[in-house]
Amino acid sequence: MNNLEHHASQLGEGSSIWYKLAPLLKDPDNPMKVLLHMADRYGPVIPVNMAGERLVLITDPDYFKHVLVSKIDNYIKYFDGLKPIFGKSMITLDGKLWQKVRMPQQPAFHPDAFDGYIPYFNQAIHEKMDKWAELAKSGETVEMVEQTWTLAADMICKALFDRDMPFNPHVVFKYVKTYTDVLQHKEIRKQKQSGDVFEVTEADVAKAMEAWWSVPPALFSASPRENRENTLMQLIQEAAADPEIPEFDQEQATDELKQYLWAGTETTALTLSWAMYLVSTHPEAAEQIRKEGERVCGDRDPEAQDYPALQYARSVIQETMRLYPPVWGLIRTAVEADEIAGKEIKPGDRVVLFNYGAHHNAKYWEDPEEFKPERWMDPAAKKRVKYSYMPFGAGKRSCPGGAMSQLENTLALTIMLRRFRPEYVGLEPPGINPTVTLTPRGGLLFKIHELS
Ligand code: HEM
Repeated sequence: MNNLEHHASQLGEGSSIWYKLAPLLKDPDNPMKVLLHMADRYGPVIPVNMAGERLVLITDPDYFKHVLVSKIDNYIKYFDGLKPIFGKSMITLDGKLWQKVRMPQQPAFHPDAFDGYIPYFNQAIHEKMDKWAELAKSGETVEMVEQTWTLAADMICKALFDRDMPFNPHVVFKYVKTYTDVLQHKEIRKQKQSGDVFEVTEADVAKAMEAWWSVPPALFSASPRENRENTLMQLIQEAAADPEIPEFDQEQATDELKQYLWAGTETTALTLSWAMYLVSTHPEAAEQIRKEGERVCGDRDPEAQDYPALQYARSVIQETMRLYPPVWGLIRTAVEADEIAGKEIKPGDRVVLFNYGAHHNAKYWEDPEEFKPERWMDPAAKKRVKYSYMPFGAGKRSCPGGAMSQLENTLALTIMLRRFRPEYVGLEPPGINPTVTLTPRGGLLFKIHELS
């Protein structure tokens, strides 16, 4: 089997849960409607038989806790169809091996490390704004996720890897995205599917994987920008050289980079894009972010000590992830028999924790469909039902980069809105396309205006 055939052969299995979910996500106005309706009608734990396999839809925070915390060892990760993106990186692992891989990298995500990242996040934001100044002059229409994705990738490369981005993110991400639209894998196999951007075939998918696989070697061999100590890149390289953890080999190191360049960038970028859409359609929120920025740091860039005071911008990010959680459902496979809310769980069941459902449930949120950043500033917000807000998952497998991504996006909103007014010019409301992540259907189109 040559390399291209090998990549294509890793498209999701015929039995993939993504194919099973696809018919439930077909409503063109809101693909989440059927799942929301099922949760409303049939209760918090719904076993469904689909083509010989059981899928269990869970929508209640208490049962999220059951799966992610109380009985975590009963439920393992599910990654069918995405292995070529993530390889054997920690996000895909379980048990002791997962722990061995996560532990040496954990210091890079300790809040004490964030202060050191801020100047690099700000540099990446300024480089992006230089591009935006050109876009404002030319008046061309841009797709926001493409814009924010390059920014998020640059932030990770500069701050965590001490590298400038040694690849063209516009090309790599756009191409590879055709692959991560896992709901389409079956169609791709049939070579029939016409994607939003271009015709996708198995061969295209395989080529996308080749592009993706070329990224980690480029990163490893790129020159460090400043030879900083204790970067995530260094922690990964040290772990790969450590004889005490033979499992953490060079392939592991390569796959860890892939994981960060995907899990750590697409999610952050989607959040910032949806936030740009929300503040464009709620100009009073954009104005409030500008005023807050001016009050807290005047003309200079936010620094570490300013971050706690950027409360409104941070609330906008939190509210954005409530309305548009980048990871809209967490998937696990049951490995042992269990019972949840009186419903039998069998080994092999695919369990879908539908956090989008909890984020939009009137039981937990007043006016759940309304964009209300203020709700996060209310001291009562701290008392909300645990696990009803879960953009970063929960328990020991929760996202290590969650707090950092909020910092990145709060800085980006504060700094970018000071200089620009991004105007949303796409369809209203924008459609959503639930791939593994919650993406805007056809993208989010904007015109960029520079404030005088
Ligand atoms: C808005 C931004 C982000 C969102 C919404 C998000 C969401 C998530 C979620 C929901 C999980 C858990 C998945 C599960 O349990 O099945 C996760 C895991 C993970 N995320 Fe994030 N993430 C974000 C940003 C980041 C960043 C910035 C990084 C790193 C640079 C990152 C790295 C990871 C890694 C490595 C894991 C796997 C952790 C493990 O398995 O132990 N994420 N993320």
